[in-house]
Amino acid sequence: MYDEKFKESLKAVEAARDENIAYEPARMTADEKDQLLAAYHPDYKKSEFSTLRIGPNKGEQVPHELAEMLEAHSRIAASDISLDDVKYDVDVLIIGGGGAGASAAIEADNAGANVLVVTKLRMGDANTMMAEGGIQAADKPNDSPAIHFVDAFGGGHYAAKRELLAKLVCDAPEAIQWLSGLGVEFDKTPDGTMITTHGGGTSRKRMHAAKDYSGAEIMRTLRDEVLNRGIPVVDFTSAIELILDENGKAAGAVLMNMETHELMVARAKTVILATGGAGRMHYQGFPTSNHYGATADGLVLGYRVGAKLLYADTLQYHPTGAAFPQQIFGALVTEKVRSLGAKLVNRDGKVFMHPLETRDVAAASIIRECSDRKEGVDTGDGKAVWLDTPMIEKIGGEGTIEKRIPAMMRMFASYGIDIRREPILVYPTLHYQNGGLDINVDGMSTTVENLFVAGEAVGGIHGRNRLMGNSLLDIIVFGRNAGQNAAATASKTTVGKLTLEHINRFDKEREDAGIKTDAVSPKLLPDYRRK
Ligand code: FUM
Repeated sequence: MYDEKFKESLKAVEAARDENIAYEPARMTADEKDQLLAAYHPDYKKSEFSTLRIGPNKGEQVPHELAEMLEAHSRIAASDISLDDVKYDVDVLIIGGGGAGASAAIEADNAGANVLVVTKLRMGDANTMMAEGGIQAADKPNDSPAIHFVDAFGGGHYAAKRELLAKLVCDAPEAIQWLSGLGVEFDKTPDGTMITTHGGGTSRKRMHAAKDYSGAEIMRTLRDEVLNRGIPVVDFTSAIELILDENGKAAGAVLMNMETHELMVARAKTVILATGGAGRMHYQGFPTSNHYGATADGLVLGYRVGAKLLYADTLQYHPTGAAFPQQIFGALVTEKVRSLGAKLVNRDGKVFMHPLETRDVAAASIIRECSDRKEGVDTGDGKAVWLDTPMIEKIGGEGTIEKRIPAMMRMFASYGIDIRREPILVYPTLHYQNGGLDINVDGMSTTVENLFVAGEAVGGIHGRNRLMGNSLLDIIVFGRNAGQNAAATASKTTVGKLTLEHINRFDKEREDAGIKTDAVSPKLLPDYRRK
């Protein structure tokens, strides 16, 4: 598959392979990391950010593309729909059909709440389904939630909200048990012991996986559970505006059928936003590993009713997005490839970083290699570095790749690349939204009552960088948490008169700030039509 232009570089990679396997590159010092990030990580590129002019985070910086959506017009005027005409009336309305929404639905259902899930695509069409490498939990004798906390807190630049991160790591072992009980088939040794591996920034092997389709296995199980319980799910229906009641509490949403554009009112005692990430916003022109529906909708819906954002200026660029062939540009190459021993090497076959640095550091290293150092490989579409996958077979023995990362093997085999024998080309891809809506430990927005948030739409759990495997974990821990607390809150709530007055207030704020824009939000789907 690799044509003539790669031959010389491939030869150099092959020639250095045995020596590179034995070579243990030094970890960077804290100062080296800071300098590297400041110079090469996209989050530090000031020209790519705008200052918000309105809303709860006025004065703060977010990516241009997100600022445009946060300051945009609603898709409707308050007068476009009668709020007396209620189509769905429930205790807990869950917006989003990924792992967090499904976990929330199961727990709210357990608590006896009357639940409705709405999703703009289908149940399970979400980033959860695309997650590959695994889910962290400190459940081995040499590990503990405290060690997990230290790893994640440091990896997130000491910025995580401590109480959220503490909940994440303390509830992790139970989350694995819960998933196993529902039917998730984690990788195990023949005696039933869970197999665990390292991820970038972990000091213990605590990554539980189902080969390299961990997210698909988890989502399959959660979706089955939701459907088997008969929890109502309305597919192909987006939330385009939250509804508050006269007391300023979240009390439902305006829904839109994605095909007919029919508008409907859902009234609810509590609302859970579980709308996922933002990769399809393609910040700074990056490709993405994300699902088609990842367009930051929850951030926009929440922001317009007054929910505060936290760290919306920080994104995760996964170091190893596929850079070749073009058909899979930006697709995720799981970090598990590096956990299993593959190292990143430049066009001369030189190892340029420790393979398990945290993601932001790894991404910045690759960008440096491909820019100032001019050590990248020219793919025809840009520069990239090699991820030397044949090392895995040399280290773990023949058959390791097929056994542990079969999805990777298949993806590249479709394009004539046998990753057991040939390295692959990678470059950072937009992968995860570190920031999102600010919540308290019960999962409720810190500024809008009865509005709960779970999953990637939350900001602050991981700080300013997330470790591999802590996202599948957070959708379970905080999805379940939101479901339980939203159900408990709903049982004590009487909904007041519904209102969309916040749309008018936001319009006025925009006008007073002198903002002229034709943009409407939430975006709902990316627009790939040629302009
Ligand atoms: O590399 C990966 O498999 C991604 C995992 C994650 O984002 O947690």
